[in-house]
Amino acid sequence: MTVHLSVFPSSARESGDRDATPFAMDASWIEITESCLGSQCHADLEDGFRHSLHNISYRPEHMHRVLDLLASELGSAETAMCAGCHIPGSLFTGGPPAAAYRERTNLPCVFCHSVTAAAVDDHQRSRYTLSPKPAALAPYRGAELAGGKLPAWRRMAIQLNTQAHGKAFTPSILAEDAFCLACHHTQVLPEGPPAASVEAKADARGGEASDAPAPLRCVACHLPPFQSLESEQAKHDHFFPGSNATIPALLGLEGPRRFTERWMQSELLVRTFEDLYKKRDSVRRLGDERKDAFFYADLAASFDAPPRAGEPAVLTVETRNLGMGHPFPASSLGLAEAWLEVRVTDATGHIVFSSGGLDERQRILPDSHTLGGRLLDSAGTPIDRYRVWAAAHEVIDRQIPYPGSVRDTFEVTVPPDAERHLNVDAVWRYRKLGQAFWEWAYPERSEIPSSEVVRTFAQFPLG
Ligand code: HEC
Ligand code: HEC
Ligand code: HEC
Ligand code: HEC
Repeated sequence: MTVHLSVFPSSARESGDRDATPFAMDASWIEITESCLGSQCHADLEDGFRHSLHNISYRPEHMHRVLDLLASELGSAETAMCAGCHIPGSLFTGGPPAAAYRERTNLPCVFCHSVTAAAVDDHQRSRYTLSPKPAALAPYRGAELAGGKLPAWRRMAIQLNTQAHGKAFTPSILAEDAFCLACHHTQVLPEGPPAASVEAKADARGGEASDAPAPLRCVACHLPPFQSLESEQAKHDHFFPGSNATIPALLGLEGPRRFTERWMQSELLVRTFEDLYKKRDSVRRLGDERKDAFFYADLAASFDAPPRAGEPAVLTVETRNLGMGHPFPASSLGLAEAWLEVRVTDATGHIVFSSGGLDERQRILPDSHTLGGRLLDSAGTPIDRYRVWAAAHEVIDRQIPYPGSVRDTFEVTVPPDAERHLNVDAVWRYRKLGQAFWEWAYPERSEIPSSEVVRTFAQFPLG
């Protein structure tokens, strides 16, 4: 059963890309989650899984504002174009109605674990193939339909041979990038420079001649292993941390919000190292190259010459993408904003220079240095309200390549009465749902949650 993915209206699709829905398979073969969790067998994955963006994307109000807009422009049947990536179960016979996914698991365990093939056809089209195994799944399906738990004797039978169980339910495609990219290619492999196809990306990562860092697959970073008490084997956290702290914040999920921030600020990388070697300071004392391995990104500030009171100076902030595996930002264009805030103060705390930030309406100040891009419609006008079905082109204004860096320079005039030294504080801030979209979707909520991606603080004596 192959599901074709794109945000083309059905009338604009080639016949091979047009799926007749509902698919002939019964949804109950993939809508299986509670019988995996309810029996305590995978309890250690539960918390991460339940709060993963994979499972809650249908909860927030803004998703439904966009879907309503789509329904009003193209008719409600067309909202099915969003389901293949967000709520696939709704596309199958007897599947829950789309509205039910506000409360339900959006991507069930057995949905992902039944994918046996996936491909990106071109920049706007991709697909995956589901091949659930009826013989192996029947008991779980039965339990799920009956309300959740597997009978005790069955749980014991599985425990006797967990390897066979794992093998039956973990197709090898799951660990491959193609699986993730079927849904994520538009974000992670954007159109236009830097031109990237799945093949080109694989070459750049895997090619022996290139000086790119050792290839890492999506799962290496986004399903970080953790040691569980019940088993010797490392488990993989199904939370899938990324950089979206906005949605957890919006939904009041403080734990997941904090976890996402710590993950993207590389705190978990450093912590793993500390846990392993119990040597906090050694990270700092390592050579640059070893040290870099413990940070996804790094920020450094410098002056081209020692700054002097009463004279102009050129401040450079360099941001390096050390370990994101792809450019930053890599999120849905038109829905995310990244901006650099720089504050320079003297020894008494007086502000000497400042660039970047937000105004009272949470808009990014016009002189701010930013990263990101836009989606344009066929007339070249930026699309608003995330009308992705109307998008014809992508424009990347600026992003940090991987591996690579960007430099931001600022002309700072040091006042004659500046004292002793200059403190430079620089930080990249990031938020999902840009200000214009937020104002449309949440007119009554003024504060847009954002988070810090990477920060530096440095002191420079005045010459
Ligand atoms: C090819 C798969 C795919 C299709 C089709 C798709 N999306 Fe998404 N969508 C994604 C992915 C992946 C993300 C997350 C991107 C990220 O965070 O970087 C996302 C994110 C979003 C977000 C941001 C949500 C948030 O809360 O973080 C919205 C809103 C959204 N999609 C709406 C839609 C709508 C409406 C449609 C149908 C017109 C649609 N999507 C079709 C894959 C898809
Ligand atoms: C070497 C580690 C690494 C690899 C490999 C990797 N990522 Fe990421 N990814 C990151 C980090 C770190 C971030 C968070 C960036 C930040 O905000 O600091 C991220 C962010 C993301 C985001 C959110 C993007 C945004 O800008 O909001 C998505 C979606 C994503 N990755 C998907 C993928 C997919 C799909 C693959 C495989 C093709 C992949 N990643 C491979 C480390 C990695
Ligand atoms: C978004 C897709 C997705 C969903 C949903 C999903 N998984 Fe996974 N799962 C994966 C991937 C990817 C791997 C890693 C495969 C690898 O690295 O070999 C994995 C690995 C596993 C493993 C192997 C052991 C480990 O921890 O690495 C188990 C067990 C597992 N998943 C159970 C579950 C259960 C139980 C659920 C539902 C609660 C679930 N999965 C939901 C994608 C998913
Ligand atoms: C069936 C489609 C689908 C597949 C397959 C899939 N994802 Fe996702 N993923 C999504 C959607 C949809 C979202 C975003 C929901 C939202 O933001 O509301 C998402 C969100 C994420 C995020 C959070 C992004 C952020 O901005 O913080 C990460 C990280 C991620 N996925 C990684 C992966 C990786 C790694 C794999 C492969 C092992 C994978 N996904 C497979 C659909 C998918």
